[in-house]
Amino acid sequence: MKAVILKRTCEANELVTSEINIPKIKEGYVLVKINAFGINRSEIILRQYEADEDHITLPIVPGIECVGTIIESLSDDFKKGDRIVSLMGGMGRSFNGSYEEYALLPTKNVFKIKGKLWNSLSTEEIAAIPETYFTAFGSLFECLMLNSDDVLLIRGGSSATGLTALALAKVIGCKIITTSRKKERVSKLLSLGADYVLIDDDNLSDKVHEIYPGGVSKILELIGPKTMSDSFKCLEKQGICCVTGVLGNQEFIKEFDPIKYLPNGKYLTSFFSNHPTQEIIDDIFEFVIENNVQTSIASVFYSLDDICKAHELMESNNAQGKIIIKLEDFE
Ligand SMILES: NC(=O)c1ccc[n+]([C@@H]2O[C@H](COP(=O)([O-])OP(=O)(O)OC[C@H]3O[C@@H](n4cnc5c(N)ncnc54)[C@H](OP(=O)(O)O)[C@@H]3O)[C@@H](O)[C@H]2O)c1
Repeated sequence: MKAVILKRTCEANELVTSEINIPKIKEGYVLVKINAFGINRSEIILRQYEADEDHITLPIVPGIECVGTIIESLSDDFKKGDRIVSLMGGMGRSFNGSYEEYALLPTKNVFKIKGKLWNSLSTEEIAAIPETYFTAFGSLFECLMLNSDDVLLIRGGSSATGLTALALAKVIGCKIITTSRKKERVSKLLSLGADYVLIDDDNLSDKVHEIYPGGVSKILELIGPKTMSDSFKCLEKQGICCVTGVLGNQEFIKEFDPIKYLPNGKYLTSFFSNHPTQEIIDDIFEFVIENNVQTSIASVFYSLDDICKAHELMESNNAQGKIIIKLEDFE
């Protein structure tokens, strides 16, 4: 089978496919034919520098999510032909991930796709969902407890996760301010339903207070620690900021002193997509279908050999939505 094998950190154009054996089934795992997978920012980070860190087992097939079909299973929970999604839990970092035609995946991170989905969504639309929707859904509803009375600020709004959060929050009916660094992206974000679009130059608080003098009630922070302090200035008292992304390329706040850093009566939370469950995957698919939520697909590639192009597109910051590699439609 074809697989993209990462042996060291490298540039996007150095990614190549190789021929390797299809993995053999073992207890606790299922063998999955990969139908499609989304590209994720963390896979760029893995290729650029994380692959040199001790917790990564090299060589590794990257890819933290996929949708696929069970080929072989020793477990009663899965049978040949089941359509599944799989994500995270060490996928593409401590065991081989989705950049290959067949993957051996631990059953604890494999979830069935159930119900009426097949009539409603294409293979690529299903592939756009696992990691990005789990992240946006969990950030908005578990962490931020978003409701219709809220004013939500999405910081990093033109990212795949930001666009997904916009689509999900529209269903709830709250007011939404979203952002981009680029003026030319404003009209698209307005057309997708944002009430306001602000140009983010790392200082948003004055612009937010011009619209909402008391501040916003909820913030989805996808730029991360780089803009967190400014985000707290945008937040009303009792408001919540959920740090989910690190688009600003700063992962930590040095010598973080919570007493001095965090304003009184404003709340900080975060979302980590490492622990999906069948229940939450079912909830997400149901929410998407029942509310006719449009997936934010930017580009679909049709071969593993396009992996360089897919990584280059994400690195260019010009995708404006989810990048998918589709190998084969679901039957
Ligand atoms: N916590 C979790 O478990 C979890 C799960 C999934 C993703 N994430 C994180 O969520 C974030 C979004 O991921 P994604 O895949 O949706 O990203 P993406 O689609 O690749 O986002 C691309 C957009 O981000 C903006 N951007 C890029 N670099 C930036 C910078 N230095 N400063 C400000 N904005 C920048 C650009 O928008 P403009 O040019 O329009 O401003 C760009 O179009 C990433 O940090 C990712 O690692 C976290």
